Parts: sequence; structure tokens; C-alpha cells
Amino acid sequence: MSTPVASVDANTGASPASQAAGTRPLPRALERCQNITDLREAARRRLPRGVFEFFDRGSEDEASLRNNREAFARIKLRNKVLVDVSRRSMAMPLFGKPMSMPLAIAPTGVAGVCWYEGEAELARAAAKAGVPFTLATPSVTSIETIAAVEGGRKWFQLYMWRERELSYALVQRAFDAGFEALILTVDTPAPPIREYNRRNGFSMPFQPNARALIDMALHPRWLMTVMARYLAKEGMPKLVHYPTGAVSRMAPGAAPKSAVPNLRGDNLTWDDLKRLRDIWRGPLMIKGVHLPEDAARAVEEGVDAVIVSNHGGRNLDSAVAPIEVLPEIAAEVGGRIPVLLDSGVRRGGDVVKALALGASAVLSGRPTLYGLSVAGEAGALHALSLLRREIDATMAFTGCASVSDIGPRAVWTGPR
Ligand SMILES: Cc1cc2nc3c(=O)[nH]c(=O)nc-3n(C[C@H](O)[C@H](O)[C@H](O)COP(=O)(O)O)c2cc1C
Repeated sequence: MSTPVASVDANTGASPASQAAGTRPLPRALERCQNITDLREAARRRLPRGVFEFFDRGSEDEASLRNNREAFARIKLRNKVLVDVSRRSMAMPLFGKPMSMPLAIAPTGVAGVCWYEGEAELARAAAKAGVPFTLATPSVTSIETIAAVEGGRKWFQLYMWRERELSYALVQRAFDAGFEALILTVDTPAPPIREYNRRNGFSMPFQPNARALIDMALHPRWLMTVMARYLAKEGMPKLVHYPTGAVSRMAPGAAPKSAVPNLRGDNLTWDDLKRLRDIWRGPLMIKGVHLPEDAARAVEEGVDAVIVSNHGGRNLDSAVAPIEVLPEIAAEVGGRIPVLLDSGVRRGGDVVKALALGASAVLSGRPTLYGLSVAGEAGALHALSLLRREIDATMAFTGCASVSDIGPRAVWTGPR
């Protein structure tokens, strides 16, 4: 099953590492981007400040956002020497289907504001890279448009609304469109507090204030290639899966309007999960788990995977970093179902650390968004290629020829 790393990738038609290494011509904007930090900086220059901060920043004091990276940095890797790793492979199955590396694209709402129809560009990049793509409920591009993207594995992320029937209708749409798996996000019982969005005038529905208008005018490339295309075709980008008026109603302190559906999600319980389990026949995951007892309950309820996540530091500030609680959750789950992890993955070494501590795979949120913002599909693919190259190198250094070789001995977590 093992494929040599220098072989041609069935999905991209290129050597997996070669795109990142620059052997295939890259769009100019990507040429200098040698890692995810470079891509972030290029995205920062390209996007209006309000848009960039919406994608890049965390909540409140951003303690979780910072700690997500610091927690990865605290874990060290160990060389394993004199192991033949000349024929190594990152490929692995998840839910019985192949992934070219242990990574999937996380759901990221309004990705279509980074790039015109950004969600479709991400889906195409994921398909080419051989990894699953997750479409978020709050997306600018519809379930059906994503379903029409050729190839690839497509997952749908669900925010369960107070008016459950509307959510079930979305689940049905995702099923009818052929989406493979469903992720129920369970870590957002209240709107997160992100003060910069208010200052920058960045909100959904997209109603830019004077500051945001100046900001956009200062970024003519984005204005012409993203916003102007929406305006010419369908008007302001909007959350296509949300009933009209419902987004404004969810804002804190908003006056309830009886004619508009209530989409708040603060009364979600395990009973809802049971119901969803009955409705959704494919793989079902829950995202946002921090407690071993919740992971154990998820297994009992017949969930197919848990995702340990703090929403990339965007929701509960001071929430623990997923990598810090991963070992106890993985121990509780005991291999009965896969445990996935996201939040703060920026290097292939982070992926190997997560796998060594019990994850089956990780999700990437911002890295692919940065790439998307710089060069659409090619940029997202570049982000995936950079991570792929780094996973490959880290596997070689730690003496792992396959993903199943990655275990606790690859990491050092501090003196006991
Ligand atoms: C701009 C943005 C929008 C997001 N929107 C959603 C969403 O709609 N649903 C969801 O479950 N998670 C959402 N997330 C969280 C991601 O799925 C993921 O948990 C997080 O980005 C992982 O952290 P990372 O960005 O450090 O990789 C969003 C993240 C970002 C950055």
C-alpha cells in the first residue's frame, strides 16, 4: 500500500512534494510563499483589513489563539535513527475511503469572501490533493454548487438551529447532493465575542460601514476580483443556506421578529444528536469536544468520529488547546472510533505530533484560507502541498514509513 514519496501523486499528477518545492510553475503570488506563515502574510496584504482579521483572529483576548500554537511548540519531536524510510507513504483510510495524507479541510464559514466562490475553489484544491473538503453551514457557495465540483470527498458541517426542521432540511439537501459525511459542530452555543469585527464593520449579512468601505477601496485587487464579481452577478455575498433575515436576528440583543426563523443554537442536547444519528446514514462526527466524558458519550451514541477542537481559538477564549487534551480523550475513546483534531496546525510537524498523541488525522482551517486568499484554488493547493512536504520530512526524521508507524515515541512532552 506504501507509495514512494517521489512517485507521481494520483490526484495531482505531480510529485507530492514537488509543488511545494517549486518544480511545477506556481502563480507569481505564491512563488515566495515557502510556508504557511508566508502565505498568511501574503493574504494579509491582499485582503481588506476587516476581512483578514475576520479570518485570522480569535475571540476576546485571543488567549486560546496564542496557546494553540504555544501548545504545539511545547511538544518536541525525537529522531528515530537507522530506519529505512525510503519508501514512505502518508496515505491512510478514513471511514473506509482513502486520503492522500492525514488531513482534511475544516469548515470555514464565508470562505467565499476570500476569493470569488472560494468554497468551490477549496473543494477543487482538496479534490486535487486527495483530501476531504468540509462545506460550512454559513457558506457563500451552495451545497449543490459544491456537489458539482468534480471528484473529491465532500463533508457538510451543520450548525443545528433552534428551528430544527430547517436544519434537517439542510441535512437532507447535503445527503441528496451526495455529501459523504456530516460534522455537527457542538461548541457554539452563543455568538462568540470578537470585538475587532465590530470595529472593522465586518458582519454578516455583509453591510460594510464607512470604515469598511475605505478599507475595501484601499484593496482594489480584492475589490475587483472578489466583491465586484459578486456585485455584478448576484449582489452582496450572502449566507446562502440561511433563511432571509435570520442572520440579523441571531445577533446579540437583536429584537425578535416573529416572521423570521430563530436560528440560535443554544438548546442543543444529546437528544438532538440521537435524532441526527437516526436521520444521517453516513459517517457522523461531532466537533468541539474537550472532555473525555463527552467523547465517551459520543461513542455510545454511535458517532463515527469526534473532533477535538477549540474552533481555532475563535469561540471560548481561554479554552484549552486541543493538543493538550488529546491524549486523555484518545485514551478514553480507546481506538473505538477515530479522534480528529484541529486548531493551530501550521506545520507538518504539528500533524505528526497530533498523530503521535492519538489523533487519526487533523483538520486545517486557516492555512488553506490563507492560500485561497492569495491565489484561489492554486493557493489552497499550495498550502496543502507545503503541509504535505513537511509531514513527509517529519515522518522521515522520526523514522516513520507509514502513518501507522507514528506513535508516542515520536514525541517528547516534558519531564515526568
Ligand atoms: C474564518 C473561519 C470560519 C470558521 N467557520 C466555521 C464554521 O462555520 N463552522 C465550524 O464548525 N467551524 C468553523 N471554523 C473553525 C474551523 O472549522 C476550525 O475548527 C479551525 O479553523 C481550526 O483552527 P485553525 O484555523 O488554526 O486550523 C471557522 C474558522 C475560521 C478561521
